[in-house]
Parts: sequence; C-alpha cells; structure tokens
Amino acid sequence: MTVSFWLNGSAVTADTPPTRTLLDWLRETRGLRGTKEGCNEGDCGACTVMVTDRSGSKALNACILLLPQLHGKAVRTVEGLSGPDGAEHPVQTAMVEKHGSQCGFCTPGFVVAMAVGHLNGRVDHDDMLAGNLCRCTGYKPIVEAAKQAEGQPVPEWMMTDAGLVADGMGDEHPSYIPESADALASWYEAHPDATLIAGATDVGLWITKSLRDLPEVAFLNRCADLADVEVRPDSLKLGAMVPMTELHRLIAGHYPSYAEMIRRFGSEQVRSAATIGGNIANGSPIGDNPPALIALGAEVVLRKGDTRRELPLEAFFLDYGKQDRQPGEFVEAVLVPTGEDALRCYKISKRFDQDISAVCGCFNIRVHDGHVVSARIAFGGMAGVPKRAAAVEAALTGKPWAPDTTDTAMAAMSEDYAPMSDMRASAGYRLEVAQNLLWRYYCEMAGDPVSVLEVRA
Ligand SMILES: Cc1cc2nc3c(=O)[nH]c(=O)nc-3n(C[C@H](O)[C@H](O)[C@H](O)COP(=O)(O)OP(=O)(O)OC[C@H]3O[C@@H](n4cnc5c(N)ncnc54)[C@H](O)[C@@H]3O)c2cc1C
Ligand code: FES
Ligand code: FES
Repeated sequence: MTVSFWLNGSAVTADTPPTRTLLDWLRETRGLRGTKEGCNEGDCGACTVMVTDRSGSKALNACILLLPQLHGKAVRTVEGLSGPDGAEHPVQTAMVEKHGSQCGFCTPGFVVAMAVGHLNGRVDHDDMLAGNLCRCTGYKPIVEAAKQAEGQPVPEWMMTDAGLVADGMGDEHPSYIPESADALASWYEAHPDATLIAGATDVGLWITKSLRDLPEVAFLNRCADLADVEVRPDSLKLGAMVPMTELHRLIAGHYPSYAEMIRRFGSEQVRSAATIGGNIANGSPIGDNPPALIALGAEVVLRKGDTRRELPLEAFFLDYGKQDRQPGEFVEAVLVPTGEDALRCYKISKRFDQDISAVCGCFNIRVHDGHVVSARIAFGGMAGVPKRAAAVEAALTGKPWAPDTTDTAMAAMSEDYAPMSDMRASAGYRLEVAQNLLWRYYCEMAGDPVSVLEVRA
C-alpha cells in the first residue's frame, strides 16, 4: 500500500506492506539510524519518535508503530530535533551540560521524549521519561536536563508539524483504513477474518516478536468517531479508540485511584498509543482496565454491521482467549457509570512503572449505616479471564463493615480463584496478595495510610 506523511518537515510517500514498522523503514530505507532498536517490543524507548496529528504531538515507540498508522500525520525523528542551521534544541543543550549521556544508545530516545514533553509544557518528567531506559548514565542527570529545559522557548521548527498536519495530506486511503465507525462496520462484516489494529501495542509485538503473518488487517486510527467521548449525567461513553492518556485525564475527576493505576500503565509512549478498546478486545487476563471497569459495572458496546448490543463487561470474557464476540463484530464503545467514588485499584507488579500486573485488584464496596450494601470486586491475574470475586462479594454483602467480616471474606477468595504460577508470580503469592488487598481496601477506606511504594518525586 502507499502511505503518505511528513518526515522531519518533508512530505514522503512509502510503498509498504501494511505491517512494516516505522523503525525498520527509517533505518533500512531512509538511512535514519539515530532512532535506535533496543528491545523491539515497546519497553525501552530507544526508538522514540514524535508523531503529530490533529490531536497534538505525542512520543511513540517506532518499533511497534506500523507505517499505515502514520497516514496523513507528521513524524519527527532525532535527526529532526535540531534547527535547519544546526541550532541545538534546548533539551539537547541541557543533556550536554548536565552530562546526561554516556554510551549514548538511549540518548536519542530520551531527547525525543524530552522534546515532546518540552513542546507540550510537561513538567512531570518522571512520568514522561519512565518509558525510556538507561543502563549507564542514571536518571538523575537526565531528569535534571529535562528540568533545565523547562520554560525555555519551544524552537520554531518544532511547531511546524502541527501546521503541516492541519493543511491535510493522506486524503486518499484504502478501504482497510476506514474513516468512520460506519465504514469500519461494513468493511469488517465483509472481512471477518481480518485483524483489527488500534494502537498496535499488542499487535506490534505479534509482528516483531512472534513473527506472525497477518494476511488481512484494518487500521482503526482514522475512525475519528471511534475516539468520541460522551459525558452523560450518570456515565461516560468512551469510544473504543480513546487512548490511555485521554482515559487518564477523563477518569481522574471521577475515580482518582483508577487514574493512578493508568499513570502506571506501560509508559507515556505506550499510553499514547494503547486504546481502551484494544485493552478489552485482546481478552487478556492481565489487562489493567477490565478489572476496574467490571468493578464499576461498565458495559461494552459491540457492533456488527448496523446491529449493536450492550453487555456487562464481565460477560464479555468467556474463557481464556475466548470472548463473546461474533465474526465481523467489534468493540465500539464502553459505558462507564459515574457517581459515588468507592473504587480503589491496586496494581501489583514487579516494577512500579512500565510493567504488566501480576495481580490487579479493583474494589468498589458501598457501605451504609455501617453495613455493606453492595460489593463489586474484580481481579486480573487471578484466572484465565478478568473475573469477579462472587464468593467474596457474597461474604461481604449485608454484613457489618468490620474486620471480622473482612477476615471471613478474605478466606472466601480461594472459592473464587485458583490462580496459576508463572514468571510474574506464584499461585500462592497471587492468592495471598489478593486476600491482603481486601484488607488494604478496608484500611484505606478507614483512612489509614496503606502504601509505602506510591511516592512521588
Ligand atoms: C511496553 C508495553 C507495556 C504495556 N503495559 C501494559 C500495562 O501496564 N497494562 C495493560 O493492561 N497492558 C499493557 N500493555 C499491553 C497493551 O498496551 C494493551 O493491551 C493495550 O490496551 C492494547 O491496545 P491497542 O490499542 O494497542 O490494541 P492493538 O494492539 O491494536 O489490538 C489488541 C487486540 O485487540 C483487537 N482490537 C483492537 N481494537 C479493537 C476493537 N475496537 N474491536 C475489536 N477488536 C479490537 C486487535 O485485533 C487485537 O487482537 C503493554 C504493552 C507494551 C508493549
Ligand atoms: S526498541 Fe525498545 S521501545 Fe522500541
Ligand atoms: S547512556 Fe548508555 S544506556 Fe543510557
């Protein structure tokens, strides 16, 4: 297929198979080898590039970004950070002055991520750079460099991409890059065996790590209406293409604990690409959104052709690798109830940032007059699907909200779950931590301090 976009300020056209990554194309076809390949799976940030579309500029990992996702957008690599006359970008100067680089392998990715943060006025450098790994220098000088660049004017060449994108390009598009949910619905109904690609933070790894052939694909990123958000009096309707960065912003005012969990979802680069629809549709037992959404009583909107159906999210996950989704049917939206906030989300992972959960427990327990009036509890990492804790909920509902009740309910956890052992955690650890998270919830709702880990610099 032919893809058109802007590269470091110039229009380019690429004839490419649909599953070619930007990283390979830059290095092999354009000779732009400043963008490094470290892990090739979205974990290290060495391949970070800036991508600008009409919603703004983002830092993304080029190793899991497929060329068709760039159609009509602007890409800026590390080679495009300095000015036309060779003038340094303020983050480049700061990295030199603060001694932020030793071997230099990570440095291009860091400076691009820093430049995007600088362009967007970000000062949360720890969050912005958590997806960039450095093995030699240490993060202190790098974060100091980011701080030094704060407040310095954005170079004028960094602002040109927004104008280029606004002028338009890539209006010609094949039918497997549909422009609306309607167009996707009719295409997918006719091509039910195709793989849908949203942010490609899962699918990208099927290509780079599992070396899978994807004979037929469709890209969802140009379906603008699939990223729509509707704020209703008692719920949020989130289009399937809402990325984690936007979800974080939207959910923070309703459920801060959920937002805090999203702050730890992957990295800035992953959150900017990963969508809520992809996190549900992949059916992963360790995705972070499903337990939170199930605890809130969210519903998923599925669409096939012109037919839509809504079902409670927990009913969507049938078994490991099996969801209630018909051929040609896709996730169109998620309905998230809003209201009283009793939700707490606990993500347990080996690393604090940029790690997949070993266990993710989400609790939403309503108490009135000292008694539990309702309990919705869901876990990831405890079964083959994200799953409600029915026995625990039953042990709590109608009972006094007290340590004795909590003890009894903690014991009921083994009726709900028989987790497995894997590289992230043993079965015994998972069960024990899940039980203890209920106690943690009890203590947190009583106002006790519960976490020594969640510190902020
Ligand atoms: C470095 C790294 C860190 C990560 N960290 C986390 C983490 O902390 N927590 C976590 O939960 N996940 C994490 N992930 C996994 C991944 O980011 C999420 O699962 C993400 O939400 C997937 O969304 P996507 O838009 O990228 O989906 P894609 O990769 O595009 O698609 C995923 C699957 O969903 C299908 N699909 C996508 N959209 C739809 C739709 N609308 N309808 C039907 N099917 C659809 C695709 O066909 C595919 O099967 C991480 C991934 C990486 C690479
Ligand atoms: S090469 Fe590691 S994130 Fe892309
Ligand atoms: S300077 Fe060597 S990895 Fe960062």
